[in-house]
Amino acid sequence: MTAAEPSLRSVLTAEDARGEVVDITEPVSAEYEIAAYLTRLDPGPIVRFGNVVGTDLKIVGNVLGSRTRIARALGTTPDGIEALIDKAIKRSDPPRIVQQAASRERDYSITLDQLPIPTFFERENGPYLTAGVIIARDPITGAGNASFARVRPLGGNRAMIGIAPNHHLNLMAQRSPDGRLEIAVVIGAHPAVQLAACLYLGLGDDELTHVAALLGRPLSVVETTNGLLVPAEAELILEATLDVRDTFVEGAVSEYHGLYENYGPAATAEFTKITGRSDAMLQVILPGWHREHAYLGALPIAAGLRNAVARSIPNVGEIAVVESGGGRLSAVVQLHRPRPGQGKQLMFACWGSLSMLKQVIIVDSDIDVWDPIQVEWAKITRCRFERDLIVVPEVRTDRSEPLEAGGVVTKLGFDALAVESDRTEGFQVAAPPAAVMEQVAKRLAGTARGFRS
Ligand SMILES: Cc1cc2nc3c(=O)[nH]c(=O)nc-3n(C[C@H](O)[C@H](O)[C@H](O)COP(=O)(O)O)c2cc1C
Repeated sequence: MTAAEPSLRSVLTAEDARGEVVDITEPVSAEYEIAAYLTRLDPGPIVRFGNVVGTDLKIVGNVLGSRTRIARALGTTPDGIEALIDKAIKRSDPPRIVQQAASRERDYSITLDQLPIPTFFERENGPYLTAGVIIARDPITGAGNASFARVRPLGGNRAMIGIAPNHHLNLMAQRSPDGRLEIAVVIGAHPAVQLAACLYLGLGDDELTHVAALLGRPLSVVETTNGLLVPAEAELILEATLDVRDTFVEGAVSEYHGLYENYGPAATAEFTKITGRSDAMLQVILPGWHREHAYLGALPIAAGLRNAVARSIPNVGEIAVVESGGGRLSAVVQLHRPRPGQGKQLMFACWGSLSMLKQVIIVDSDIDVWDPIQVEWAKITRCRFERDLIVVPEVRTDRSEPLEAGGVVTKLGFDALAVESDRTEGFQVAAPPAAVMEQVAKRLAGTARGFRS
């Protein structure tokens, strides 16, 4: 292990130097107050809490609450994120096993419920660890898996783990003869690990093997007492045995779309060991309809979606799985030089590839998919709604869909591609001549008055 090993800490140090970290020094309670600060400051800076009541541990939140910060953590620009994740999906590199690791520096002799775990929202029934990437191994094939799932302490070392039935972590545990599976909950890993954990890959395709392409170097991992390989540079590692047959009824819980859901019984786990850095920070991701939660899901989902639909529609461009849909429900998809009917074909490809996706807006390559005003403008100026608005009733969806009924929901598609024959004056945007625009841009750049060129 070298001093330059990338970690959440190295990201925080760099962001601190840019003035992107706000330190809250007054005493703050983990009950609702952390959530209130993070909600007030979302979207905004990273928030570090140095004085959390009843604990020595620091808490950090809103770390990846902007596409710009995510891009910087990955050494790219916001426009480069999709291509980088696409590259990572296509590559697989085994992690590098090390013996000494920051995440094993200290054995915290505390029970799970002694961690300062925040209680976030009014109607939720307890505190939640929301930033835990759960590492597991398939009991039959030995293949690894990494994914986020919420952990709610139930007293002592017992906890509830909320896992969607179709997620690989649940499928792996269901394959175990007694429904039990060794897991490690990783808190505060490098953002590359956190993004990889949100990739939709095939069952048995280990997300950790895709981290190296995001990091630009092999991921260092260390073995836990319960036989799993976890990121060496993480803040905390919580070892546990998951039990999908011993269930607990959760009650209301927030979802990425901001509303409460009630999923009924959830799996439980018994925690056996907590290790971490000697001065570990507890990373918190504000759940519900907030930027960090949206982007962490959205960016890997978009890259995966693009990868899937490009097989049949190679002229697909950039995809934004936008904030308004919590980074899951609504996508804006570019299509380069579309041929007749391809806009609608692309909608169906998207719905077919991702059941959670409810609204798809297809735009030309001149539209910035992340700019909602440009997207609305394309809809208003380029759609003939009687032809370009598609409503498909009763299509299969995910259990998290806010209006899901009997497993289905109505899907909506906008084909906002310009059709030249729709307008005698064409679709050219009114603007001064390009040469004059360029001259003026140069002059403005020279004025040093801070105008954008
Ligand atoms: C911050 C965050 C929290 C999440 N919490 C949960 C959760 O509580 N339960 C769940 O099933 N999925 C949750 N997810 C989504 C899964 O981690 C994600 O869908 C993942 O790709 C599933 O992987 P798997 O099928 O390999 O298990 C969360 C995602 C993020 C970004």
